[in-house]
Amino acid sequence: MELERLLRSQGFGSRAECRVRVLAGRVKVAGDVCVDPYAHFEPAGLSFTVDGEPWNYREFVYLAMNKPAGYECSRRPQHYPSVYSLLPQPLVTRGVQTVGRLDQDSTGLLLLSDDGQFIHTFTSPRKRVPKVYEVTTRHMVDDAQVMALLNGVELHDDAKPVGAVACIRMDEKRLRLTVTEGKYHLVKRMIAAAGNRVEALHRITVGGFSLPLALPVGQWMWLGSPELELLAQRG
Ligand code: URA
Repeated sequence: MELERLLRSQGFGSRAECRVRVLAGRVKVAGDVCVDPYAHFEPAGLSFTVDGEPWNYREFVYLAMNKPAGYECSRRPQHYPSVYSLLPQPLVTRGVQTVGRLDQDSTGLLLLSDDGQFIHTFTSPRKRVPKVYEVTTRHMVDDAQVMALLNGVELHDDAKPVGAVACIRMDEKRLRLTVTEGKYHLVKRMIAAAGNRVEALHRITVGGFSLPLALPVGQWMWLGSPELELLAQRG
C-alpha cells in the first residue's frame, strides 16, 4: 500500500495532509525516514512513527477504556467532556466508536472499535452478551429485591419483564449484577423497579473479559487476540 494511503487509513488525516507529513520528513517506517508518499509497504505488521510517536498498522482497532465519571459517550457531548477526548486524535479520525454506551456518571469497562461487525456483535440484543456491573445502591438491598431482579422486573417501555442473569449481594448496599440486554439506563431502571436506587454504577466485565485492575481510570489499552478471545466467551 502507498504510504500516503496507509497513513490515511490509520487516521492521520486526508491524503493531502498525509502527503505533507511524509514530504516534511515527519514519518519513519521500520526505523527509517521515508519522504516518498508513494513508496509501497506491506501494511500487515508494519511499524512506523509520525512525529516520533510509534504506531503499528492495524486494519481494525479494538480498545478497552477505564471510563471515568463525568464523561459522555458521544462525539457531540452536551454537558460533559467526551470519552473521545481521552483518545489520541488518529484513533478518533479513523472513526473509532464506543461499543454501546455508559452513562455520564457510570464508570468502568468501555469498549471502542472501528470494526462494524464487532460493534454489532457486542451491541445486538440478540447476541445476549453478558455484562457485569458493580452497583452501589442508596438503600439496603433486601432478599425481595434480589429475587425481583433475578425473576424479572417490569420496565415501563416493555411489557416483558427483564431479569438479571446473576445478582450477588456483595454487602448491604452493593450488588454484582449480570445482564444481557443493552437498553437505555437498563441497570438504573431495573434497580428502581426493584424498589431501590443506583448511587454508583461500575462495569467490570463484558463477555469473558474483565477490566484489568492495572488500567488506570481515564486510560485505555489495545485489545489483541487474547483479549478478543475472552470477550467472545459468554461469561
Ligand atoms: N445501565 C445503566 O443504567 N447505565 C449504564 O451506564 C449502563 C447500564
